[in-house]
Parts: sequence; structure tokens; C-alpha cells
Amino acid sequence: MMKKRDYRPKIHFSPEEGWMNDPNGMVYVDGVYHFFYQKYPYDTSWGPMHWGHATSRDLIHWEHQPIALYPDELGFIFSGSAVYDTQNSSEYGTNENPPIIAIYTSHHKDGLEQQSIAYSNDKGRHFEKSYLNPVIKNPGISDFRDPKAFWNPVRRCWSLVLAAQDRVFFYASQDMKNWEKTGEFGPEGNHVKGVWECPDLFPIEYKGKNVWVLVVSMTKASEDDHCKMQYFLGDFDGEKFLCTYPSDEPRWLDEGFDNYAAVTFQNAKDVLLMGWGMNWQYAAQTPTEGYCGQATLARKLSLTEVDGALTLAAAPAGLEKFRHSSYPIENHTTIRTETFGLKVSGKGDAKICLKNSVGQKLKIYVTDTKITVDRTMAGYKEFSEHFMTEKYSISTAARKKDGAWNLELVFDVSILELFAEDGVDAISTVVYPETPYDRISWKGDLSVELYEIDA
Ligand code: FRU
Repeated sequence: MMKKRDYRPKIHFSPEEGWMNDPNGMVYVDGVYHFFYQKYPYDTSWGPMHWGHATSRDLIHWEHQPIALYPDELGFIFSGSAVYDTQNSSEYGTNENPPIIAIYTSHHKDGLEQQSIAYSNDKGRHFEKSYLNPVIKNPGISDFRDPKAFWNPVRRCWSLVLAAQDRVFFYASQDMKNWEKTGEFGPEGNHVKGVWECPDLFPIEYKGKNVWVLVVSMTKASEDDHCKMQYFLGDFDGEKFLCTYPSDEPRWLDEGFDNYAAVTFQNAKDVLLMGWGMNWQYAAQTPTEGYCGQATLARKLSLTEVDGALTLAAAPAGLEKFRHSSYPIENHTTIRTETFGLKVSGKGDAKICLKNSVGQKLKIYVTDTKITVDRTMAGYKEFSEHFMTEKYSISTAARKKDGAWNLELVFDVSILELFAEDGVDAISTVVYPETPYDRISWKGDLSVELYEIDA
């Protein structure tokens, strides 16, 4: 039996107490990143959902804030988003003191899902719910949730995308209160079916032009039932998304088991995405004490071409100041911190291993076609039959012609985020080593730099 120890990550947000799942309502206002999230404060398993709240100035250090939204007679407060209404189009603030408007799903205990709003006049500290709720009534379907509002530059109004069973619906509004449905996007061709959740739609500039990215989280996305996030690239005509960069294969945002329900910050300069660093299949059983779940790091999204195909790349944000003090290390180096980054460049096949004093190992293999993270020997795993069913792997689409490759590994107590070729591929994975990993070793032609992260 494993001895309990503190698995709380240092630079990944985790709730002070209780349960968390999806990030919600992320918005950047006056130098502060606001992070709201699905929270059940009274237990370490899922329960009647609240919106928890935390703030940060650097995306690395988070300060807990009081709960922002409590369940009410319309139901639990499910996932949603927030906008900084700088023109006061909602008239819930003033031009001098613009409001933050949150839009979320009210999930009634009989299953009815509708969309509601709440406003804040003190920059996210307190929210008042609108007496107009629900502002989008249920059209008679069972899954109808997770509104993500964004600025619509074509119609010059607010728009939102929400999940409706195995597709998404689009709505538009001048004031965040009155919404009109403008379109749908759903399965055909490479579009994986399953239950769609937590969609997001945002533009990224590429070669002077805006490409619109639709991200959708989906349960039952793969044969092993694991929940994943798919993305589509295309255009937004002001009413709906048009997939204009089709690809034969679905494209995934993260191949690991532990990144779900990721969405972007509204009103931030960069396109910054954060997810729930966990998986529905075993989240409630994970061996953390007093709290459950964490967020991933924020990732800065960009577009790049890989083998002629436009591809989304995600690089961890907020780590620049630590990366500046990277230094080269030798094979078998002792690592003195539980939170660190590794920059690895290699050629050909390789194996990298993080090891602890009781012989547990987190292994990463690189071959011609694949990067594999193997957590089967990495630590405590008996808490769920779903945790260790297989190794999981991603293919390195971005491998350079001469066989050279690069990886960045960010390790934080009990979660690893791996980025290949500057974020073209990613794997996020949680691990529960009995004692901290304190040694790194490798096989192959590698050069490795370490940066310590003393949060
Ligand atoms: C995704 C999700 C959302 C829902 C929320 C409930 O993980 O199922 O669709 O709003 O979690 O907590």
C-alpha cells in the first residue's frame, strides 16, 4: 500500500479544497487573468456545481478567490465563459466601469439545460445573476450546454458557440441578453461523433489572415472511451463555422489522457488555452488528499505548416523567465526539485527516464514514428482500473528530415506536460510516484538542458 504524500502541483492551478473539473469564464482584465472553474467545495468528488474563482498575473502563481456562482433554483452552474463588456453593450455596468458578463449553463436536476448570465461590476469579485435567466431556453434536446461567448468581428456583436449533443450551435446577440440562433456545425467526414462538450471558436492570425479554430471536447472519442479534444480549422462567416482546411484524419489537441475541456481566455493579447489536467474515467479516484483535480498550464496557440498542412501548435505560457536559466546536464543527473522543465534535442531513437528512490520510472520513448509516454511503472496506479490500461503514444508528425527532433518536458510533482516540435504535438499525463523523481537518465544521441522552477 502506498504511503500518502502531497501530490499538489506547484505551478498548475489546483483548488484549495474539494473537487474541480473544467476551466470556465477565463477572461483577462486590467493585467489580471481570471480563472473560474467547475467546483464542488464540499467533497473531493463531483457534486452540485459552483463556479470557483482564482486570479493570476503571470499564469503560474494563482490566488484563490471566493466562490463566484452558487447553484440556484434553475440548477447547478455548469460550464460557460465570460466576456469583458468594454462598450457596456449589456448595460449591466457603465462606460467608465465596464462589467464582466458570465454566461453559463443552468443544469436542472431533471436534466434540463439552459443558458443563463451573471454580471460583475467589481472586476470579477462578485457576480449578480440576471433576472432574465435563462437567456437561452432549451430547444427540446438533452445535452445543450457550455456556451463560449466571443466577439463577432463580422456582424460586430457578441456570438457564442455551445454544445448540442453531437454538434455545436451558434448564436448572436447585441447585448448578451437576447440571443438569436445563427447556425450549426456537426459530424460528417472526419468529424468524430460522441457527446460534444465545451466548444470554443477563435481566430488565429496566420500569414496576415485570420484562420478560425473550432475546438470541441468529446467523450467517447476513441475506442478506449477516453475523452479528447478535436480541432477544426476554417472560417467564420459571422453566423457559423465553415471547415475550410479539411483533413482525412481527425486532429487532436493533446494525445495524453489528462487534458480535457480546454478553452481560451477572452480579451487576452495572445490566444491562451487552459484545460482540466485530468480525465473523467478516474478523476474521482486519484490519490490526492483534500482536493481533486488541477488545470493544465496555459498554452499559447499558433498555426504552423507541418508537411504542407496547416496545424495548431501549443507552447506552455509563463515559463520564459525560468527557461532563461536553463543549463546543460549530464546523463544520470540528480534533480533536486519536483517542478522543472527539460529541453531535449536528439537525433534518432531515444529513451528518457525519470526515476525515484524506490525504482519507479516515468519513461519516454522516441522512435522514427512515435513518441510514447509510458506510465505503467511510474508510481501508484491501483486506484482505478482505467488508469493503466495501456501505454499511450503520439506520432511525431513534425520530425525534421535529417532525423533530428526536440521535446520540452514540464514536470510538476504529479503531472507531466510534454511538447514535441515546439508544441505541434502534446501529451499531458498525471502520475503518482511514491517518492519524488530525483534522477534523469537517457539512452541515445541527446542533449538535455534543465531549468528549475521555484514557484
Ligand atoms: C465537461 C462537462 C461539461 C459540463 C461540466 C459539468 O467536462 O461535462 O459539459 O458543463 O463538465 O461539470
